[in-house]
Amino acid sequence: MKKINVGIIGMGYIGESHIEALRRIGICNLTAIADTNYDLALAKAELYGIEKVYKSVDEILADKDIDAIHNCTPNFLHREINEKIIRAGKHLLSEKPLTTTYAEAKELIDIKSEYPEVEACVNFNYRLNPMVQEIKARIHRDELGDVRVITGQYQQDYLMYDTDYSWRLEPEVAGASCAIADIGSHWMDIVQHITGHKIVSVFADLVTVIPVRKKPLNQKETFKDSDGGEYVETKVKNEEYAAVIFKTDKGATGVFHVSEVAPGHGCYFGFEVNGSKESYSWNQEQNDRMWIGRRGGNNSLIIRDPNTISADVKPYTSLAMGHPEGWNDAFKNNIYAFYKYIADGKKGERIFSTLEDAAYIVKLTEAIVESNKNKQWVNL
Ligand SMILES: NC(=O)c1ccc[n+]([C@@H]2O[C@H](COP(=O)([O-])OP(=O)(O)OC[C@H]3O[C@@H](n4cnc5c(N)ncnc54)[C@H](O)[C@@H]3O)[C@@H](O)[C@H]2O)c1
Repeated sequence: MKKINVGIIGMGYIGESHIEALRRIGICNLTAIADTNYDLALAKAELYGIEKVYKSVDEILADKDIDAIHNCTPNFLHREINEKIIRAGKHLLSEKPLTTTYAEAKELIDIKSEYPEVEACVNFNYRLNPMVQEIKARIHRDELGDVRVITGQYQQDYLMYDTDYSWRLEPEVAGASCAIADIGSHWMDIVQHITGHKIVSVFADLVTVIPVRKKPLNQKETFKDSDGGEYVETKVKNEEYAAVIFKTDKGATGVFHVSEVAPGHGCYFGFEVNGSKESYSWNQEQNDRMWIGRRGGNNSLIIRDPNTISADVKPYTSLAMGHPEGWNDAFKNNIYAFYKYIADGKKGERIFSTLEDAAYIVKLTEAIVESNKNKQWVNL
């Protein structure tokens, strides 16, 4: 079988995780990377032994040996670069959010429809954690009963000091939202994916917790502490905290909150689903287990074990019970699911997020921003 040759654009924080994931997937060859920060790209190529290094999007797109490209650039570049990748006839794996506006997301869907040979995925990587898939399998087997209430959170602390800074706070780079677009997008994607419900009404409160920040004059890597160097005081427009109440198309109700100013949390991403028979919950910081709640106290904690996991979840786990699999493994599973779908001639389930799925998350993000602005429910 011919391997799928892959390139990556953007060698910042998440670009490195894409390198590691691709290196673990036997059906792909990672052949090239590109970054406008060429020194950074050269350093990553040296570290990982990558054959070809490019300085620009156009150079990597002109490489005829490349079949697929990952877009790991900041949000405002997703619309333009994703279009270029599709028009070059290469499969697209875009980082989330798909775009910064729903109008742009729809444009990309239209453009992709002109290129039926091109497949596309947006990297909502948490979907492919085996215990998340186990919860989805149990919900689909009706063991939970009717989905009634969905709650949860995604909390981090990387913006808790006024010396912390990220392009995610700038509307021109990130879009009109920080916390919802950045991490709320993962939360909304995962709960829709596991329940099969769509969020159709939202009421939101968005808060800029630190209104003025010390923006470093030297570009700082995502999630890295300030180096104490020179800075400029900068007014913050986007939110670091958001609370959202919602309703779904199948009659469930819910609430979630996201925070990037929660001391002690790196990736406290979790949800609980209450059904008419059972409850299930999962939390990324202990991601090898799911909790089952039952009235009467007969609750259970299920630990990931390839021997006992549901049959259709087995492809997403391999290590024996007690040997931790985690964030990187779910990430790899998601990228593998995308390329396996292509390698199998586009047959079977698209378990990864499609452009349409991801466009809906952008639409929800816009509705949440609008609800906060007008202090009203917004129906989609
Ligand atoms: N799926 C996840 O869990 C996850 C986690 C983190 C980030 N992300 C997403 O990944 C994207 C990148 O985030 P990050 O934290 O890695 O950002 P980053 O700022 O650390 O890295 C972005 C990189 O893109 C490069 N770049 C900018 N413009 C470019 C251009 N025109 N051509 C080529 N390279 C260019 C920059 O030089 C930088 O190296 C964002 O959209 C973010 O939402 C996803």
